[in-house]
Amino acid sequence: MPKTLVITGGCGFIGSNFVHLLLRERPDWHIVNLDALTYAGNLANLASIADDPRYTFLRVDITDAEALNAALATLPAPPDALVHFAAESHVDRSIVGPEAFLNTNIIGTFRLLEYARKHKQLRYVQVSTDEVYGSLGDEGAFTEDTPIAANSPYSASKASADLMVRAYHHTFGLDVVTTRCSNNYGPFQFPEKLIPLMILHAKDGKPMPVYGNGKNVRDWIHVEDHCRGVLTALEHGKPGEVYNFGGESERDNLQIVQQIADLVCGHHDLIRFVQDRPGHDWRYAMDITKVRRELGWEPRVTFATGLADTIQWYLANPEWCRQVLSQEYRSFYDQWYAGRTNA
Ligand code: NAD
Ligand code: TYD
Repeated sequence: MPKTLVITGGCGFIGSNFVHLLLRERPDWHIVNLDALTYAGNLANLASIADDPRYTFLRVDITDAEALNAALATLPAPPDALVHFAAESHVDRSIVGPEAFLNTNIIGTFRLLEYARKHKQLRYVQVSTDEVYGSLGDEGAFTEDTPIAANSPYSASKASADLMVRAYHHTFGLDVVTTRCSNNYGPFQFPEKLIPLMILHAKDGKPMPVYGNGKNVRDWIHVEDHCRGVLTALEHGKPGEVYNFGGESERDNLQIVQQIADLVCGHHDLIRFVQDRPGHDWRYAMDITKVRRELGWEPRVTFATGLADTIQWYLANPEWCRQVLSQEYRSFYDQWYAGRTNA
């Protein structure tokens, strides 16, 4: 498989875990990481491998066609594969300011597809989300054939990108694979997302804000399992196919927050029910029959072990946490949570 792999968004949560996994498990590959270093991108996530000769970092905004093509032109040869992680990824931010989501998630994907159109040998992997399928009731699970029914500006931008990927395969014959995954957790996740936010608030004695009644359900997967899934899809996926990945670990939000409170501070006194997120999807669940059958993939990390390890990681890395909670993040935080007092 690939000798040279370009990844986008490698300084973010899942992308950086993917780089670490590849350097361990595919030692003869060269990885080129294109990342704009937005608030969510952090060079510290890859500090331990920054000088590895098998790794190159190029700071590029993927929406900027000229800069993107200039960066890719510096490679000694066109890459064998491209795995596209870069995105604006936080639903709450997409409610406060959708435009960046349209730019990065739709236009950015379009720029990469245009590059891929000129380099037809390249395998292109689109890293997408279960959220494009919309919201489930109390029963059932999303399959790859579930119609797209995105509900938030974030998921609508991801769904739009997925459809462009599909169109470029159908119309131009690009060798594309799309992965859709449920909620990830693990090391290096920006503490705006549920699990790391709750860990740090429990640690620091701050309120733990639960939206609505806390009964919304998500399926949780450890990031390492997701990264193994993306790698398997890259190496063994069939052109034009979509693959769903999930952890088969459904929990409602309150269960998760209580479990974190138990493990971090030993009481529930910090938990606060706050005003719900507008348009809040009720439930996500993934049917992973296809990846089991066709790719031989299984989630390996149980939620109990994965959560305990993740808590340990955040507690052991206070300097990383301090650094990522920058001024830019604080101003979003103040804007979003101000007024979301007890519901
Ligand atoms: P993240 O927000 O942690 O990281 C995003 C990365 O993309 C950052 O490094 C950022 O600097 C970079 N980036 C943003 N805009 C860019 C631009 N215009 N040009 C270049 N780089 C840019 O995101 P994540 O949680 O690691 O998610 C990665 C991918 O996986 C996304 O496509 C997301 O939709 C998808 N996904 C995430 C989850 C999840 O639970 N986090 C679940 C399923 C799918
Ligand atoms: P999040 O981590 O933002 O992921 P997504 O919205 O993409 O699933 O949120 C996970 C769930 O946790 C979601 O139902 C919203 C809820 N949530 C809270 O209750 N409080 C919070 O402070 C956050 C960030 C999320």
